[in-house]
Amino acid sequence: MSNHYILWISIIICIFISLLILVGGGDNYSNGSLGAYSLLSLGFLLLLYSNCKTANPPNKHKKKTKNIISMDSKGGLQIILDNVIDGIIHIDHKGSIKLFNKAAELMFGYKESEVLGKNINIFIPKKYKDKHKKYLKNFNNGGHSAIIGVNREIEAKAKDGSIFPIEIGINEVYVGDEQIFVGVVRDITERKKSEERIHKYTDRLEWAHFEMQQARREAERANKAKSMFLANMSHEIRTPLNGVMGMTELLMNTDLKDKQSKYAERIYGSGSLLLTIINDILDFSKIEAGEMKLDPQPGEIKVIVKEIKEMLFAKYNEKGLKFTVSFGKDTPVKLAFDQTRVSQILINLIGNAIKFTENGSIKLVIKNKKSNNKKASILFEVTDTGIGIDPSKIEKIFDKFAQADASTTRKFGGTGLGLAICKQLVSLMGGTIGARSELGKGSTFWFEVTMPIV
Ligand SMILES: Nc1ncnc2c1ncn2[C@@H]1O[C@H](COP(=O)(O)OP(=O)(O)OP(=O)(O)O)[C@@H](O)[C@H]1O
Ligand SMILES: [Mg+2]
Repeated sequence: MSNHYILWISIIICIFISLLILVGGGDNYSNGSLGAYSLLSLGFLLLLYSNCKTANPPNKHKKKTKNIISMDSKGGLQIILDNVIDGIIHIDHKGSIKLFNKAAELMFGYKESEVLGKNINIFIPKKYKDKHKKYLKNFNNGGHSAIIGVNREIEAKAKDGSIFPIEIGINEVYVGDEQIFVGVVRDITERKKSEERIHKYTDRLEWAHFEMQQARREAERANKAKSMFLANMSHEIRTPLNGVMGMTELLMNTDLKDKQSKYAERIYGSGSLLLTIINDILDFSKIEAGEMKLDPQPGEIKVIVKEIKEMLFAKYNEKGLKFTVSFGKDTPVKLAFDQTRVSQILINLIGNAIKFTENGSIKLVIKNKKSNNKKASILFEVTDTGIGIDPSKIEKIFDKFAQADASTTRKFGGTGLGLAICKQLVSLMGGTIGARSELGKGSTFWFEVTMPIV
């Protein structure tokens, strides 16, 4: 009962008691006063109760009871259905629409009243109608349906005739004896657009990747062709140059006047320099074109080092440099290696050491870094006390035609191919090459290769 009613009842009781007192008076007073007092107390009790109720703070939850849905009620279920973001459609076994929630209304553009009782066909685009009929027929004949219990992506038709993609999950339920199908429908237009965009980007990326690979293959082919051309050209130039050198040598052995002899020596000197450059270009081009093949043969490092020392004697001796060679104790004596190419690397490194050192010494150290009874990893180190290299330039000097600074060629000669060839050869041997240096103090160039012990 509301507070309002209790108040009014209390007032009425009070008025009634007052009247009793007035009417009761004299003799009747004692009888009347008993009933009157009882009612008076009841009136006050009610007043008190009513005050208590008003004194209590209003119960917030109670106020909301109007909105609480009873799950059992049909209205409650409707509220839930209307607030679901997915479209929910019920159809019976003939395909006749029994329920169409608010989200479905928004999606298809129909009001529920327009579609109730109509066939689900109205949402199916023409091209899917036959398929739909087949599914329904098959299902009604007790066959297995491929659409029950699985989520599918299909197209649907809206009231305005527009076709849009949906994701639909259909389940079969029984309400009493009645068989119904519950379809949960989601508009996936945006998702499809995003997927399409992603596909487009993926296609473009794949195409770009394909083009890049094509371009790389093209560049590699072109580079190989260029290297082959260089290798052939160098070879072609070397043949007549050898002729010029041979003839000059013969000329120098004839009776020449002093001036003629000097000219002949100049021709020979320049010819040798040209031959070195051509040989370097030939080697480098051959390696780049993949034409350089190693020829490992059993041999002794000591032997080739002795030959190199003799070969370079004039050069380091002329500059007053000391050249020492030392071998680690456990360096295997006989190893299989391409002696020409290992010599070539050592001549390049020691040649550089001599070229870039004015005073002091050059040291060649050969160590066995790691070995078992089959193979040994041999480290060759060439240390000089020369001009040194700025450490920031060390990586660059192993590139072709790269020199530590622009004045090197002018001051010391050379084309900057020596180290590039060394790097390529070491890499062909499956080894590593590097350098450490301090400007003005000297450098150490090293390479390490694994060689079979024989
Ligand atoms: N021992 C060294 N001391 C100082 N600088 C060096 C030393 N060895 C190489 N360099 C630097 O590295 C550069 C590249 O060396 P690299 O042997 O490739 O070419 P190059 O000697 O100049 O010419 P090339 O060897 O073709 O005749 C040199 O120009 C030089 O600047
Ligand atoms: Mg060099």
